[in-house]
Amino acid sequence: MAVDLSSEIAGLKLRSPLLLSSGILGLDWRLMKRALDSGAAAVVTKSLTLAPRRGFPNPTLVEIGCGLLNAMGIPNPGVREFIPEIERLKGIGATVIVSVAGESPGDYAEAAKLAEGAGADAIEANVSCPHVGGVAEIGQDPEALGEVVAELRDALRVPLIVKLSPNVADIAKMARVAEEAGADAISAINTVKGMAIDIYARRPILSAGVGGLSGPAIKPIALRCVYEVRRAVGLPIIGCGGIVDWADAVEFLMAGANALGIGSAIYYRDLSVFREILGGMERFIEENGYGGVRDLIGLAHRA
Ligand SMILES: Cc1cc2nc3c(=O)[nH]c(=O)nc-3n(C[C@H](O)[C@H](O)[C@H](O)COP(=O)(O)O)c2cc1C
Repeated sequence: MAVDLSSEIAGLKLRSPLLLSSGILGLDWRLMKRALDSGAAAVVTKSLTLAPRRGFPNPTLVEIGCGLLNAMGIPNPGVREFIPEIERLKGIGATVIVSVAGESPGDYAEAAKLAEGAGADAIEANVSCPHVGGVAEIGQDPEALGEVVAELRDALRVPLIVKLSPNVADIAKMARVAEEAGADAISAINTVKGMAIDIYARRPILSAGVGGLSGPAIKPIALRCVYEVRRAVGLPIIGCGGIVDWADAVEFLMAGANALGIGSAIYYRDLSVFREILGGMERFIEENGYGGVRDLIGLAHRA
């Protein structure tokens, strides 16, 4: 019997649960198209702000063995400049989730409305970038989070996904705040706050000092976050953080994720990682007598 790999997030039909995570392949629609051609069901764009941002000076990305540490500072041309890229992606029939960031509820709502007007299928609110002042604070303060989510919900017709930070004492509480304020889905997690020091230069390697850790090092943290969010809210979840192979993907589904973001794995491997994960998941589903991806979602909660 054919394995059904399809899934769904807040009404968005996905041919597989795999998405390209935000910020991973830059800002060019052709790069994002390559992820789709490689097996991603949808792309999440780099986070876009209302005004252009230069980001931090180099170094902004360092490989540290167990993961990647980055503090890019959300460099982007501003959402208006990015509209042609959204339109090109929509022109090839892509499902496009536009990530937005800002420093106030009004910033988020205005950027998101422009993206929606350009054809975005959903908006992902990045309230969780650990090294950008303003954005990080929103994701750590329940009141500020509730205000941003409520303003976005009021401004939008398309589904609203809220990307949560692991850098909080209680992610379940933040998920409940997002749900009560009108979020349609949760994305978990953004990067974990971290640091690396150059012992010869006697200073932090990243120009911003502190950055966000991603890749294999954060997988157990991300998995625990998805599990806790699943228990706390009824919303669909995009699980991401350290997924590099099909077994990781199955773990996240069993923890309660409905879809999966692939990020740093593309740095470690290449875009073939999408097909490898899909192939392995398909074999696992078949060999263990499940019908499809949907049968795996949340299974670990029944144990
Ligand atoms: C270089 C780099 C840039 C990123 N930029 C963004 C971004 O603009 N917005 C966002 O929400 N997350 C951003 N992220 C976080 C990823 O989308 C993802 O949540 C995180 O890396 C964990 O997943 P991973 O371990 O599969 O990479 C970025 C991550 C990396 C490594």
